[in-house]
Amino acid sequence: MEVVIAADADTVAEIAARIMIRAVTERPSAVLGLATGTTPLATYAHVVAAHRAGDLTLSAARAVLLDEYIGLPPDHPQTYRSTIRRVFTEQTDLPPDHVHGPNVWSTDLVAACASYESLLTELGGVDLQLLGIGTDGHIGFNEPGSSLMSRTRVKTLTATTRTDNARFFSNQDDVPHHVVTQGLGTILEARQILLLATGSRKSDAVARAIEGPLAARCPASVLQLHPHVTVLVDDHAADRLELADYYREIQATKEL
Ligand code: F6R
Repeated sequence: MEVVIAADADTVAEIAARIMIRAVTERPSAVLGLATGTTPLATYAHVVAAHRAGDLTLSAARAVLLDEYIGLPPDHPQTYRSTIRRVFTEQTDLPPDHVHGPNVWSTDLVAACASYESLLTELGGVDLQLLGIGTDGHIGFNEPGSSLMSRTRVKTLTATTRTDNARFFSNQDDVPHHVVTQGLGTILEARQILLLATGSRKSDAVARAIEGPLAARCPASVLQLHPHVTVLVDDHAADRLELADYYREIQATKEL
């Protein structure tokens, strides 16, 4: 795993945006796997700025969502499909019909999960998957205990995740209990993965993901199996990494 420790959250976003822009520049029809939540917002803002400056077109790119809440009406502002459109794709030239997510409004969720997996295959797989990490070590909404080989399916959120995400709703009871998420096995099929984490609240999960044992207890640890992962963290999120000095030494020899 490539571990990059940046001075602050702004630098994390700048580097992450550079990696996203490079992926689309090299392959205009790139399939971008997008995470929601707070962490990637600044990265999306940098990519939008590059588009506005005329340096980037996303007209042939595709966006595929990692996950979606179950139980919100389709027009609810906190669905992940509305969120990603609002905070990112609508501010670029990525066509609205190039944004894909699992159909959580289907009456047959098992079939909807299978058809999302088929869609990812039809699109040729994900070129660059952006990930955040939960304080409990989840990626996507693969909560602790998730099978390391899992595919897209329904999951129940932990109390920790529902509390963490309550800030997006008027009260905690409104946070859905269930989601559809790409599985860990699904995420691992992306050709390149970029995990972002900022702030000291994430330092424990980051240390367990990178330096802990490969274990369903910390789903993000499955990334240790992937051949092309960059973990991009700020100083605070790197706080508990035992090998931080070593990662910095390697990083000094690379151009990002
Ligand atoms: C969101 C997602 C989650 C978040 C994670 C961190 O699509 O899949 O794994 O990335 O919960 O969220 P933030 O960035 O809000 O701390």
